[in-house]
Amino acid sequence: MTEAERRAALDAIAQEVAICTRCRLHQTRTRAVPGEGHAETEVIFVGEGPGFNEDRQGRPFVGQAGAKLDALLTSVGWRRDEVFITNVVKCRPPENRDPEPDEIAACAPFLTRQLQALDPALVVTLGRFSMARFSPGARIGQVHGTYRPADAGSGAPNALAYAMYHPAAALHQGSLNEALFRDMLGVPAALLDARARRTLAAAPPGGTADQGSAEVAAELPPEAPAEVPTEVPTELAVEAPAQSPAEDAAVPVIGVEALGLVEVADPAVDAAHAPDSAPRGEPASEPASDAETRPAAQLPLF
Ligand code: URA
Repeated sequence: MTEAERRAALDAIAQEVAICTRCRLHQTRTRAVPGEGHAETEVIFVGEGPGFNEDRQGRPFVGQAGAKLDALLTSVGWRRDEVFITNVVKCRPPENRDPEPDEIAACAPFLTRQLQALDPALVVTLGRFSMARFSPGARIGQVHGTYRPADAGSGAPNALAYAMYHPAAALHQGSLNEALFRDMLGVPAALLDARARRTLAAAPPGGTADQGSAEVAAELPPEAPAEVPTEVPTELAVEAPAQSPAEDAAVPVIGVEALGLVEVADPAVDAAHAPDSAPRGEPASEPASDAETRPAAQLPLF
């Protein structure tokens, strides 16, 4: 699919979502929230369902949970317009209650079509309802910060699914804030793995390797969850060979850049990570954690 075709498909889905009446949630919504982002992205973030602010604006993750998601993206050098952000259900459950199974089922075809249009390499699940679609049976307390091949029935059969806590959970439970930022540091490494797997799986049979693509794909562990190093930059870095100063000038350093990761001197933690004061009635944000302030290596998305 060309970028224009992907965009057209996403726009068509959004138009259908806007007028959808497939479940009871349409009765109480202000606006449906189809999702938004880059049509050519490799990474999709899937949350639970719109909240108060999202329902008003028709856009995903624009409230406090959205500020947290923005901060998480910033922590690895990404912007929200470089990824795609959507939800399991596209209309706000009243009073932010959990979505019901029949509401999730009614909305599922929209997410399936979004996944088909985007064909993401990596799906980052935010919270247990999203995780349940891509990694059924997993327990978030055990698998957060790890990834595995997305469930074949999820609509993203060629993607890896990376489990994270929901950003809103960190607003209510401060101890999860550090886990969220630590887990986020593993996302670029998961994307590198996802890219490598797709490249291998697409290799023509009898090509440079003496294995066919099906054999190569079969070698990839189908269910084995991958532990992601939280110190992504340093653990992914390949040691540069010892060089004389003269060689230094001529030979590019082998390091994070060779893996597509670019070292960042100043993480420039956004002030939005740790607002001075929280709105009345909202829990105060935790001070910036180590993971939020640690210098990161970045994997450019575009
Ligand atoms: N929580 C979600 O799961 N999705 C949103 O879009 C906003 C908050």
